[in-house]
Amino acid sequence: MPIDDIHELISELEKNGELKRVKTEVDPDLEIAEILRRGMYSNGPAILFENVKGFDMPVLGNAFGSMKRLEIGLEMTDFTEIGKRITDMTKMDIPSGILNKIKKLPELSKMTASFPKSETSGPVTEITSSNATFEGIPILKSWPNDAGKFITLGLVATKHPETGVRNLGVYRIQILDKTHALMHWQKHKRGAHHGELSKEKGEKIPAAIIIGGEPATIFSSIAPVPEGLDKYLFAGITRKEGIKMVKCKTIDLEVPANAEIVFEGYVDPEDIRDEGPFGDHTGYYTPVEPYPTFTLTGIMRRKDPIYVTTVVGKPILEDAYIGKVIERSFLPLIQMLQPEVVDYSMPPAGWFQGFAVISIKKRYPGQAKKVMMGLWGMGQLSLTKMFVVVDDDINVHDINDVIWAITTRADPARDTIIINNTPTDTLDPASPLVNLGSKMGIDATQKTKEEGYNREIQQLVKVDDKTKNLVDAKWSDYGL
Ligand SMILES: Cc1cc2nc3c(=O)[nH]c(=O)nc-3n(C[C@H](O)[C@H](O)[C@H](O)COP(=O)(O)O)c2cc1C
Repeated sequence: MPIDDIHELISELEKNGELKRVKTEVDPDLEIAEILRRGMYSNGPAILFENVKGFDMPVLGNAFGSMKRLEIGLEMTDFTEIGKRITDMTKMDIPSGILNKIKKLPELSKMTASFPKSETSGPVTEITSSNATFEGIPILKSWPNDAGKFITLGLVATKHPETGVRNLGVYRIQILDKTHALMHWQKHKRGAHHGELSKEKGEKIPAAIIIGGEPATIFSSIAPVPEGLDKYLFAGITRKEGIKMVKCKTIDLEVPANAEIVFEGYVDPEDIRDEGPFGDHTGYYTPVEPYPTFTLTGIMRRKDPIYVTTVVGKPILEDAYIGKVIERSFLPLIQMLQPEVVDYSMPPAGWFQGFAVISIKKRYPGQAKKVMMGLWGMGQLSLTKMFVVVDDDINVHDINDVIWAITTRADPARDTIIINNTPTDTLDPASPLVNLGSKMGIDATQKTKEEGYNREIQQLVKVDDKTKNLVDAKWSDYGL
């Protein structure tokens, strides 16, 4: 059975030695964040803070801060499975004859099992209140120069104002007062797009901020799921079981029944205020930028909720592991559109949008550049600043192998492309403008004559079989 909620996740992590409880009193103002950072920088466990100063609610952090914890939470070890399930669906032809229909039934029923399921109540509806306030929730201040308290692992639910397709995105939320906050949905993200469409209609957009839920729902909120695919369905595909949903009380949205807390409200695209500074994924404080306000209209919560949070800063912190799982799970989707791609890696030190290495099975001249252009046109990969494309004999996860390929197979003048005035990640501290900057691509594949390389390709050094076998056979005699 897949893990249904944060309470089940905690007990699974604990059984596997991946969680520690802290009973000493801790302050949500800076202290918890520093403990979580130190924990991540030393490969420590998930931490459940049971005695939070001024609050009667425990705080869970670093819950997804290792590959093992993600394997437990998502109940799989090969994360490419997730992408494969999506690509398999796109390959499923619609059965025509009755015989075909019968043959396809098991596949179809597997798919319907992943659809969200409406319920009339659930754990999150145990307590509901329209007299809502952010007070009483142990929201953290993470860094000394942060503008205040921020919800950092809130899943923001919205609906596309025209198609009705549901979205979930993790966007940080800066608390302004008891009932107001700022919604940091960046320009390129789906939540921001929904907000803009509502603005065009002169409307405010209903939004819910969800704390907790199934680990797969949390993962789905962060994943760059293809446009048009309901993120709850993506979560259901990930866990092979549909997400149970309940209706919000004050807005027209459905949210996971197994969540810990749901803040209901709306975002007013006309009420724009200064957001930040905030100590960010890049390791820098993102400066003040204008973002729209969220107004709280109601709260649903369990009787015993756990506040789930995360802390970001200079990599490598918890988000690095979530990013690795996204990288693995999207490989089959990338390969569906760019079949020559063998593997890719987005090293966490490059905060995911900064740098990626892609290996390809090259068949024709200029193919590395074709792959770069394709990926720069694909979803959130369009925000990646630098791509290095290598041949399939290079291990993209070994930075030394990558540097060897760049320095032996690329000539800077011939093999580097720079494209100016392209969309960049909002957080990029180096881009000349917020959201606009340049891309760099390095073609580190072996060049051919057709690509203007008129020298003989030098032979790779490789030991001969005779010497190899001799040394293999005598290896233990050498006393090494
Ligand atoms: C801990 C964490 C915090 C994040 N904070 C933000 C944020 O404040 N704003 C934002 O636009 N994206 C943020 N993201 C990235 C988005 O969640 C991610 O890009 C997601 O795919 C957005 O989904 P969407 O485009 O479908 O809405 C954050 C990711 C993580 C892991």
